[in-house]
Amino acid sequence: MSKSIAAQLLTWYHQNKRTLPWRDHSDPYAVWVSEIMLQQTRVDTVIGYFQHWMDKFPSIEDLAAADEQDVLNLWEGLGYYSRARNLHKAAKLLFAEYDAQLPEDTKSLMKLPGIGRYTAAAISSMAFGHDAAALDGNIRRVYARVFNVEEVLGTRDAETILWGIAEDILPKGKAGDYNQALMDFGSAVCTPRNPICENCPINKDCEAYQLDIQEMRPVRKTKKAVPYHIHAGAVIIEDKKVLIAQRPQKGLLGGMWEFPNGRIEENPVQELAMLIWEGYQVKIRAGNPLGKVDHAYTHFKITEYAFFCTMSGLSIRENMRWVDLNDLDDYPMGKVDREIAKMLGENNA
Ligand code: ADE
Repeated sequence: MSKSIAAQLLTWYHQNKRTLPWRDHSDPYAVWVSEIMLQQTRVDTVIGYFQHWMDKFPSIEDLAAADEQDVLNLWEGLGYYSRARNLHKAAKLLFAEYDAQLPEDTKSLMKLPGIGRYTAAAISSMAFGHDAAALDGNIRRVYARVFNVEEVLGTRDAETILWGIAEDILPKGKAGDYNQALMDFGSAVCTPRNPICENCPINKDCEAYQLDIQEMRPVRKTKKAVPYHIHAGAVIIEDKKVLIAQRPQKGLLGGMWEFPNGRIEENPVQELAMLIWEGYQVKIRAGNPLGKVDHAYTHFKITEYAFFCTMSGLSIRENMRWVDLNDLDDYPMGKVDREIAKMLGENNA
């Protein structure tokens, strides 16, 4: 039975496959870049970034030689910036130790920074034609429905079952197309909500559909409440230059630039000067508000209130810089700080 499911999905794929710039690309590097971008980001968003990236860094050699700030700049807006730093790190490693070639097998691929089991299988199957089974969010959902997997998604039991299915059902010699068939099928037909079961080519084989419980599969963990933080940010301007700070290399938005800021307890205006002193050893006085920005990260949400500030001391730390207001675009920033930079630009226009 499993064979026929795979065969039907392949037929569906050949009739419905999306045209995407990294598909049927002869260069494994392009497949790798696209897979890293697609890890947490929708296909529609990735297309433009992918093309821009391939123009700027067309090969592993070019990426290995690039400046990290240029790499982060290109990634800006995609989020999860460790993906860009890992791509860059891996390119340098490949250049130094592997003759600037990606290895073909999943085991060697998984030794590279940023490449886990799914991405290794995707690259190995799509770029090199190896029989590697892949499992991402879409594919997990499809299998959980077709095989009525009752274990809670993300648990060890569910993972064992789902990887077992993926290995079992994989059509040998066609893994690259088959893995992509599942991805397209998961995003076009077997969607998270309101799947199009009536027109699904494998609905007769789908255990969940036959039981009419497709919306209850996969079984998900109950979500925890997302923490909410309020921040205040200091926009410190002197002689048409604004003070920004580089975040530590490790952690959220590592290596990117921000307006000095901190989490407030109650009152942004009263607390801002103390926060900026504690966090950045810069003495400021808070002035008029510039605006506020809301943003949802994966694990928390924030609102940041930005204020024009004046500085009373002179010295700044080594990872801070006075930047011309027109040059802020050259500094990679997360969404919140880029939004503040934009408000600042509009304010000065
Ligand atoms: N998501 C991750 N990789 C993909 C691919 N190659 N095609 C479509 N969606 C994807």
